[in-house]
Amino acid sequence: MIISRAKSIRGELSLPGDKSISHRAALIASLADGRSEIEGFASSKDCHSTLNCLRELGVSIKETKNKLTINGVNKKGFSKPNKALDAGNSGSTMRMLSGILAGQPFTTEVTGDDSLCHRPMKRIVTPLRQMGANIQTTNNDFAPLLISGGNLHAIKYDMPIASAQVKSCILFAGLFAEGSTIISEPTQTRNHTELMLNEFGTNITVKSNIITTDGQSTLHPCSYTVPGDISSAAFLIAATTLLPNSELFLHSIGINPTRRAIIDVLLQLGANIEFINSHIQHGEPISDLLIRSSELASNDNTCTLQGNIIANLIDEVPILAILATQTKGGLIIRDANELRIKESDRIRAIVDNLRAMNVEVEEYPDGFAINGQQKLIGAKIDSMNDHRIAMAFTIAGLIAMSETEIINSDCVDISFPGFFNKLSSVTI
Ligand code: S3P
Repeated sequence: MIISRAKSIRGELSLPGDKSISHRAALIASLADGRSEIEGFASSKDCHSTLNCLRELGVSIKETKNKLTINGVNKKGFSKPNKALDAGNSGSTMRMLSGILAGQPFTTEVTGDDSLCHRPMKRIVTPLRQMGANIQTTNNDFAPLLISGGNLHAIKYDMPIASAQVKSCILFAGLFAEGSTIISEPTQTRNHTELMLNEFGTNITVKSNIITTDGQSTLHPCSYTVPGDISSAAFLIAATTLLPNSELFLHSIGINPTRRAIIDVLLQLGANIEFINSHIQHGEPISDLLIRSSELASNDNTCTLQGNIIANLIDEVPILAILATQTKGGLIIRDANELRIKESDRIRAIVDNLRAMNVEVEEYPDGFAINGQQKLIGAKIDSMNDHRIAMAFTIAGLIAMSETEIINSDCVDISFPGFFNKLSSVTI
């Protein structure tokens, strides 16, 4: 994809449904006893990996344009698949589904693409083995995974890393375990699973960072509407903020406090983002957003983001890096080691591609430092087949002198199919 410098962003958009919430809606509706209807389900490739795995497990799922009908089989109704389940590029699919598979009285193989088969799985295998599942990994840590489940018992688990995928995996396994499963998080991660399990009728309690769920719960079917994806919105918010004379209205974006740190950081830096029609839906805060261009120049100090906030904006770090180049004081990110083991090594991808665009950036093992007020020069960008890198550098291309070329730009379909069309429909 070739990106040229743009003048402004103007218009209004609805965005695809939230990827994190959509995965959970499909998994939880499958566990329920009867038919659920899900509106606004994400069109992303990752969420379709989850649907395909569930179909292989015997769940009937009907898809029309904007609605998904899932005939939940209840906790005991899954059937042994005829082949290995393919999670594609999706860490969420593999890690969260494994919690359900650990509760099944049969053996399932789960695999994925090359990127996913190089991402660590010990983080879910350790607690699932403690609960009684038998799991074989490849080379001691990786997929393909061979999961033989059934007869789980509840555990009390102190999570060593902050990961919503791991937390959700254990919560799903906990639905099949005898007794109460108790999880403690080092810092609060996105809480969509907790909110949705509650919505579908599960006994779940949350007290600060401790979550308790009950193995005896039965899940009831629901009608559920998925909000727009804040992680996808972040790219458009960035473009609108950075380009002069811009104004963009985004409909129904999820602004859950465990996800909206990107907006809070931008507001602190001087961005102009208005919340309109804010309300709560299925326990999730949702709002329309009105964004206008603004200088990210509220003060001269370098902004440092580290510690607990990182878990709440982990997926937005690539676009924050682009925004950082246009701040007055620059930006330092630390404590983001997890970025090295996402769909690509995102720290490497950010540093290498920013340098290709003539930006000064210092790399740390757990982050980077970027000076503000830098001029970007168009370059050939290696997306590393990572959707968030491709989209972040597309926005960089809009503010760069001369053309930018994004290699393997099709990977945006992993989370945001239609990204290029939607962006060009509001770009002047
Ligand atoms: C996700 C959690 C995060 C995030 C990923 C989606 C989720 O991963 O990076 O894109 O839906 O739970 P970790 O749980 O590994 O931090």
